[in-house]
This record gives sequence, structure tokens and C-alpha cells, in this order.
Amino acid sequence: MTATVQDYIRTIPDFPHEGIMFRDVTTLFGHPRGFRMAVDQLLSPYAGQQIDLVVGLEARGFILGGAVAHQLSAGFVPVRKKGKLPAATLSEDYTLEYGSATVEIHDDAIAAGQSVLIVDDLLATGGTAEAGIKLVERLGGNIIGCAFVVDLPDLGGRARLEQMGMPVHALCSYA
Ligand code: PRP
Ligand code: ADE
Repeated sequence: MTATVQDYIRTIPDFPHEGIMFRDVTTLFGHPRGFRMAVDQLLSPYAGQQIDLVVGLEARGFILGGAVAHQLSAGFVPVRKKGKLPAATLSEDYTLEYGSATVEIHDDAIAAGQSVLIVDDLLATGGTAEAGIKLVERLGGNIIGCAFVVDLPDLGGRARLEQMGMPVHALCSYA
């Protein structure tokens, strides 16, 4: 039987805290067929659409987002954890499954009206993605959608983003 993206993802119980089932995509990234499959499937819904920029969410969204941007001949813009970007930034605070954080984007990274695809490895509570969406929207970017390898629907991220009117594409889910 043909392997799916999910077949390449490893689950580590109780990481980084007791009770968290950590969906480890490094095994997917490390497999030549798995990585290509993931990148191809992430971008397939957007075939024929104009995408100027891929915004990747730190850190695993950089690996996928860079590959997706290359395939689409789009630019790549990083949304980074606080204090990492060298020039002037906008920032957004957010909470996630096991903590809270602040993310930033360079304030000149997106021109108003540019079309943007947001990419990350995993959608849990949606806090990270919502922060990324807010940053892109504050710069006037036109978000075409958000693409993830993994959806954890029980944590409510998909519902949260869809409530904001944001189209969500995910390759697999763990309920
Ligand atoms: C993970 C994951 C997503 C985010 C999803 O990143 O890669 O970015 O959590 O969670 P949420 O939907 O509840 O916001 P993490 O914050 O662990 O950072 P890392 O990629 O730098 O390890
Ligand atoms: N980020 C937030 N929740 C996660 C999980 N369960 N596995 C991997 N990354 C995550």
C-alpha cells in the first residue's frame, strides 16, 4: 500500500510535558519521499493561484515554507519568535498548547495587496497561526489560506481560523 504523509510522522508521548502527544515531523522531513509528498500536497490546492509570498511560522514552518515558496516561485517571509529579527518589527502575543509567546515580522516584509500563503507544520490551538494572520493583515497582505501538515482538531485551531474566515488546508489529523 502507498505510504501517506501521516505514516512518516512519529508520536512521542509526554513531550515536552506530561500529557502532550508530540507529533514529531522530523521523521517526515528526513524521508526523501515523505518530504516531497508533504511539500507537493501542501501547495496542491493553490495551483493556478497567484501567490506572491509564503509566510513561514518559526521554526518548523520555515522548513516547509521555504520549500513551498521555491516550488511556487514565491518569496519567503519568516514570522519569528520575539527578539530574532534585526530590523523594525510588528509583534503579536499569543498562547499555545503548552505556554505563551510573542512573534514578530519585519514591518516592511509585505506590501499592501500582496497575496500570501501561511505555512506551518502543525495546527493545535491556532494561537500561533492567528498571531501570524494578524501580523500579515496589519501589513495589508491578502491571505489566500493557511496550510499545515498536521491538524489537531480537538484543540480547536481549525474552528478558530475558519471562524475568522480563513481557509485551512491540512494534510492529516489526529483526533
Ligand atoms: C508548534 C508548531 C506550531 C505551533 C502550533 O511550534 O510548530 O507552530 O506549535 O500550536 P498552536 O496552534 O497551539 O499555536 P512551537 O511553538 O512549539 O515552536 P517551534 O516550532 O519553534 O518548536
Ligand atoms: N505544537 C503544539 N502542540 C503540538 C503537538 N502536540 N505536537 C507537536 N507540536 C505541537
